[in-house]
Amino acid sequence: LENGNASTGAGDALDHRLAEGEDQQTLTTRQGHPVTYNQNLRTVGNRGPATLENYHFIEKISHFDRERIPERVVHARGAGAHGYFEAYGKAGNEPIDKYTRAKLFQEAGKQTPVFVRFSSVIHGGHSPETLRDPRGFAVKFYTEDGNWDLVGNNLKIFFIRDAIKFPDMIHAFKPDPVTNIQHPERFFDFCSNSPETIHMVTFVYSPWGIPANYRQMQGSGVNTYKWLNKEGKAVLVKYHWEPKQGIKNLTSQEAAAIQTKNFNHATQDLYEAIKKGEYPEWELLVQIMSDDEHPELDFDPLDDTKIWPKDQFPWLPIGRMVLNKNPENYFAEVEQAAFGTGVLVDGLDFSDDKMLQGRTFSYSDTQRYRVGANYLQLPINAPKKHVSTNQRDGQMAFYVDQAPGQNPHVNYEPSSMNGLKEAPKQYPDYTPHIAGKLVRESIERTNDFEQAGDTYRSFDDVERTDLIHNLVTDLAVCRPQIQERMIELFTKCDPDYGRQVAEGLKSYRYQHKLDKKEQAVQEAEQKGHSTDSY
Ligand code: HEM
Repeated sequence: LENGNASTGAGDALDHRLAEGEDQQTLTTRQGHPVTYNQNLRTVGNRGPATLENYHFIEKISHFDRERIPERVVHARGAGAHGYFEAYGKAGNEPIDKYTRAKLFQEAGKQTPVFVRFSSVIHGGHSPETLRDPRGFAVKFYTEDGNWDLVGNNLKIFFIRDAIKFPDMIHAFKPDPVTNIQHPERFFDFCSNSPETIHMVTFVYSPWGIPANYRQMQGSGVNTYKWLNKEGKAVLVKYHWEPKQGIKNLTSQEAAAIQTKNFNHATQDLYEAIKKGEYPEWELLVQIMSDDEHPELDFDPLDDTKIWPKDQFPWLPIGRMVLNKNPENYFAEVEQAAFGTGVLVDGLDFSDDKMLQGRTFSYSDTQRYRVGANYLQLPINAPKKHVSTNQRDGQMAFYVDQAPGQNPHVNYEPSSMNGLKEAPKQYPDYTPHIAGKLVRESIERTNDFEQAGDTYRSFDDVERTDLIHNLVTDLAVCRPQIQERMIELFTKCDPDYGRQVAEGLKSYRYQHKLDKKEQAVQEAEQKGHSTDSY
């Protein structure tokens, strides 16, 4: 067992005794019975019918019937790897304890084991890895203080800034509930009515929306977190992963060429690189801001649709991560892995970002449904340290997390009968003062278009041409009022951006002699346009 303190209550359950005539390769049932017949059912005559007491068959088929667990509601397709994080002991040139007391960062050279799962977002469990989509970049650090999950994406921003919009956004991006076909009109209908999406749309429709593989992409925590130092002082922090392998993205033509031959290319690339000993590596960098509202900025530091400008908030390297071991069991390690934004260690904290708070409820909630109430007892999710709780039982409870020598009768706290006790407090509490009216309002500094315009202007010619081509192709199958609203939003980002999309749509209509939406949809289907991507 991974957990030294764990007790199975099953005595020598892991005994590997061999029965007479057996060797290690002998097939058995899960009850340990040797299987002598695995080719034929027991039947009345060799043509059947079968009888109900075919115990081995019924166990085998009924376990098979339950092989799948619900796929993740988002980020269903993924690949994972194990490795380690090595701290630099500094944030840039400054001692890191100025900002955070989190133990994993303190000493230069200190290693912490990690498990990483990369993913695409919208599409199902075996969808092509070439589709246009953000990519997930989730890291579980098994620290001495318990687990820390940094659940990020490849891009640095997100579509929305309020968690209440997430289910609607995902519904719009996923297939139509009637036809089960994904359609760009659903995507742009939502986005054209949610102007905060425009910055992310600009990235996702450019080559940045199709990373070439998982090794050559960046990662980002996206949401704003806090760090706490030993004095209990906080700063705001954003996390970024930079790949040592460089960054590589694909145009839609390049992606299409790969997809005709291989729709597992990113998983394969990661697995094979690690197998060959070419271990991928990322540097972890942070941006830091003082913990206040920063009225001098034209955006809100808690708004996840915004990038913190690098020239004002420099990227400070704090460590590196190497992935050097493939999973041995995809299901046990990758599929059942459970990451969440609430999983923080001492010295790390949440910010007031309301999107982050919505996320924090959602992850463990879905994992109790997707994996089960005891998902934290699975080796991939369990911390690699002492665990003692008074949480007990539930489906698939595998052991009791109790301390050696703890009175097993006491499953509550407080107690004076040798039960568990609260940990001593090491540092002053962090007690921010929060006061205000309860409201349902958007933040004030929404500034939805300025950074999107900057991003558009920062693209090189290949990126910009691909962006306009991709937008035009997908907008062409949307009804005119959605096209018009999107052009209006692009124009607010940069007049040239709006003009390019409008002219692109005009020439698309001219070339295809299409004025009616129905014809456009037919054309898209005949040409295999991206009804299966955005
Ligand atoms: C996965 C919810 C925003 C990154 C998930 C899952 C849920 C979820 C329910 C499935 C988890 C599981 O089954 O284990 C939400 C909600 C959000 C939100 C409610 C907004 C309110 C974001 C953002 C990011 C992100 C902004 C990027 C920073 C991820 C990643 C995974 C994931 C990487 C996959 C984790 C894995 O590999 O298992 N999200 N999410 N999500 N989310 Fe979010």
